[in-house]
Amino acid sequence: MKKFNCIMENLLIVANWKSNKTISEAKDWLQGFTNYDLRITNKEIIVCPPFTLLGILRDKIREVGLPIKLGAQDISPFEQGARTGDVNGKQIKEFAEYVLVGHSERRKNFNEDDAILSKKVYMAIENNLIPIFCVPNAISSIPQGVSIVAYEPIEAIGTGNPDSPENADEVAKKIKEDNARVTRVLYGGSVNADNVDLFTKSENINGVLVGKESLDPLEFLKIIQNA
Ligand code: PGA
Repeated sequence: MKKFNCIMENLLIVANWKSNKTISEAKDWLQGFTNYDLRITNKEIIVCPPFTLLGILRDKIREVGLPIKLGAQDISPFEQGARTGDVNGKQIKEFAEYVLVGHSERRKNFNEDDAILSKKVYMAIENNLIPIFCVPNAISSIPQGVSIVAYEPIEAIGTGNPDSPENADEVAKKIKEDNARVTRVLYGGSVNADNVDLFTKSENINGVLVGKESLDPLEFLKIIQNA
């Protein structure tokens, strides 16, 4: 059972498209999404596409008036300047309200450590972006200024083997107890339309971060509806 003081808070349903989709595929996704009943209440939908799709999605979402917010999947730890390949917070803010920081794929494939992740969180906040800070367990360090954390156990990401809702709830509780400023903890890792409600009805879990199953608009819509 959710605590009473959580009832009014929106559930966050976040899509992480990772390194997927071209412009035409993103347009098809939006088209598919728009074709279905979009009566969404008490849920905030955030789509995190690759940088290349933020512009087209922003324009289409505005045009159609969809209840979707955008997030980036990464942010430069630096200000604008001579940083080849980086996209900085000021640039991201033109398109998005949120940014994922510390996803395990970035920690693993790009050696992002606590020091870099703290700088990324700092740059996000400096640019009025809300960081969604991903951690693999309850003891990971969480930089100052983070209010939304996504708990994503590595063995559950992309494997079809989600954590148990009971354990995820315990971890979410501990993260909140240990980090007074963290108000929302999401669960991520093999979330689908059949298991999403097991997580979202847990007392300490405030939403989900969805990878693979967010790539199909119909599946993602089912997840939103079942959450
Ligand atoms: P998955 O990915 O839903 O495909 O397991 C989740 C994530 O990595 O954010």
